[in-house]
Amino acid sequence: MIRNRAIWILTTISLWPALAVSAEEEITYSNQVSRIIQDNCQICHQPGGIGPMSFTNYDEVRPWAPLIRLKVADREMPPYQYDHDIGIQELKNDWRMSDEDINTIVAWVDAGSPIGNLRRIAAS
Ligand code: HEC
Repeated sequence: MIRNRAIWILTTISLWPALAVSAEEEITYSNQVSRIIQDNCQICHQPGGIGPMSFTNYDEVRPWAPLIRLKVADREMPPYQYDHDIGIQELKNDWRMSDEDINTIVAWVDAGSPIGNLRRIAAS
């Protein structure tokens, strides 16, 4: 019994990285992009936010994808200085996106901004 369980656990753990890689292979809105936009953009780009447009779902983001790619790749967005009384102040020194996230956005737009499986967002 105990041995079976140990084998089961080992098998499960060893399969994990393979699953993670295959889930990441295809960059889609549902897989990665929605999370990146949520973490980096929505604080301003939401209804009532200071950004001129809202980025809270795929339909809102999709038309802007080419411009988003440009602004993110040029590091113009997210703006790296901002008014001191807006948003979460702890983020102040940590406002810029990681290279990894920037590359993900660029690759996503270059791939035609696919939506992916929306159920993933619901699940995460
Ligand atoms: C601190 C607030 C803030 C954050 C965070 C932010 N934006 Fe913006 N964004 C603005 C404001 C304000 C404008 C309008 C003024 C401007 O274009 O600089 C804008 C404009 C834009 C525009 C239109 C630019 C144009 O030339 O018309 C795009 C595209 C954009 N943002 C994308 C993003 C993306 C993508 C993110 C996240 C990676 C992001 N923004 C994060 C505040 C923000």
